[in-house]
Amino acid sequence: MIDTAPTYDAWAQTYDIFNSSNKNGDIVSVEERFLLPVLSAIIPGRAADFACGTGRWATTLSGMGWDIAITDQSRNMLSIAREKLKYFPPFLVQQCDLESSPSDLRGLDLAICSFALCHCKNITSAVQNMAISLRPGGLLVLSDVHPCIQSKWGGDNHIEIESVRYPMPGWHWSVETYRKAMFDSGVAELAVIEHDAIIDEERRLGVLMIVGQKSASAAVS
Ligand SMILES: C[S@@+](CC[C@H](N)C(=O)[O-])C[C@H]1O[C@@H](n2cnc3c(N)ncnc32)[C@H](O)[C@@H]1O
Repeated sequence: MIDTAPTYDAWAQTYDIFNSSNKNGDIVSVEERFLLPVLSAIIPGRAADFACGTGRWATTLSGMGWDIAITDQSRNMLSIAREKLKYFPPFLVQQCDLESSPSDLRGLDLAICSFALCHCKNITSAVQNMAISLRPGGLLVLSDVHPCIQSKWGGDNHIEIESVRYPMPGWHWSVETYRKAMFDSGVAELAVIEHDAIIDEERRLGVLMIVGQKSASAAVS
């Protein structure tokens, strides 16, 4: 396992600026274009934004009327998310590693995890740790950098933040890996969406989104 907490701790202060720039904006806006209508169609209840980063989905869902919990491995990302939610405080804020242990959450109506599973080498364990927090019938929404991009990154990919190199691995090189992790977690697949986001002629980013529903008879309960 490669620890990306230092990467995101270092990136936290400038992450939103990067995300709203052309460098990464397209991949996020493609994801939002597909997922916003899906999420708007669900009656709000209790939800968790796993690996919430600076709280992009947590703030959106909170604005839609959801009660929100947030978790992330990075203390600095989590504290920015918490600050954004100060007028609608989350019912749980937890610094935890998605891959190594389940959160304290149970009985959720919705769990979302965006652009984070790419870094979790043991994706099955990470998805199981989220699935356990759902009530039977609860929805799991996963989105990520498309596996075809992750295969270009590989496990040894790095980014530079203020002249320091930090790990940015992409471990999952097939869509099947995500589908199997969901299946193995007792979550039935409802929809798989694969979409390109073209940044410029040389850079082509893709997004993978999967929506699932925890089975009533799920082994992970
Ligand atoms: C690219 S950011 C995405 C943030 C947010 N979900 C979004 O879509 O705007 C990835 C986030 O996942 C978190 N993350 C990566 N691996 C994790 C793990 N194993 N456990 C918990 N959080 C993790 C990072 O700390 C970071 O905040």
